[in-house]
Amino acid sequence: MQVVRASPTREQNQGDNEMAGYFTEENSIEAVNGRMGKDINPRLAEVMACLIKHLHAFAQDIQLTQDEWNYGIEFLTRTGQMCSSERQEFILLSDALGFSMLVDAINNRRPARATENTVFGPFHVKGAPVRQMGDSINLDGKGESCLYEGRVIDLDGKPIEGARIDVWSDSAEGFYDVQQPGVQPRWNNRGIFVTRSDGAYRFAGIKPVSYPIPDDGPVGQMLGHLGRHPYRPAHMHYLVTAEGYQKLVTHIFVAGDAYLESDAVFGVKSSLIGVFERVVNGATLWRSPFDFVLARTAR
Ligand code: BEZ
Ligand code: FE
Repeated sequence: MQVVRASPTREQNQGDNEMAGYFTEENSIEAVNGRMGKDINPRLAEVMACLIKHLHAFAQDIQLTQDEWNYGIEFLTRTGQMCSSERQEFILLSDALGFSMLVDAINNRRPARATENTVFGPFHVKGAPVRQMGDSINLDGKGESCLYEGRVIDLDGKPIEGARIDVWSDSAEGFYDVQQPGVQPRWNNRGIFVTRSDGAYRFAGIKPVSYPIPDDGPVGQMLGHLGRHPYRPAHMHYLVTAEGYQKLVTHIFVAGDAYLESDAVFGVKSSLIGVFERVVNGATLWRSPFDFVLARTAR
């Protein structure tokens, strides 16, 4: 006699799969994290388990459709394909999602008096020329000349000797030299200055202008779909390092810039909005004073 088995219910299937240790919608996080080996790097295990937990919860929360995930994969593929030695679209994605600023904030909690960090960005170039104090970094002669000056000091206001101040800004047209090889001179609007015993620095540059982050790729398209513009408020970049002190990666923003409240990469902090005052001193039209306050590294 033939035994006719009633069709199992969804719950029975689920129960069977769970009993057998197979993947189900309900146990998805445990199913994936449970596969990790015992002798793996403990931090890797911790990071991946947390990532899987939040990634699966995201798909559940939003009830992600297959078409949406296919689009996501295609977007990530295009992001990767846009990357080259000159272009890092994944960093740009992290920046535009505010993720770079979040990771930066987590890793740079400082005493209130110390200068705040902000996003590094993709346009720093290692090995810029070390210039004499007072020199100009502006090699193409374009733009409005600005004198940058101040001191590098510690939390007690004492000058820091031997601090390296690596600076870079865009050109008068809103492009970094590396975006326009053959158009701008190499190292245009870049240089390194080393403080002496008074901690003072001084250099001439231009008053920077606001510019769009590279928006001809998937990240630019994403911003467009989200009704966001790609602009950054005008800023001068600084990487300040000194023996025994925490590395400072920051910008000084031009007060009054139209994009301060809507920076495409969320880099603005109140304390980093600098003074740009009008001066009349030969060809110099502006002066931007700012003291950098470094916190000591933990001993
Ligand atoms: C920059 O300020 O140079 C920058 C930062 C993040 C993304 C693109 C550019
Ligand atoms: Fe920049």
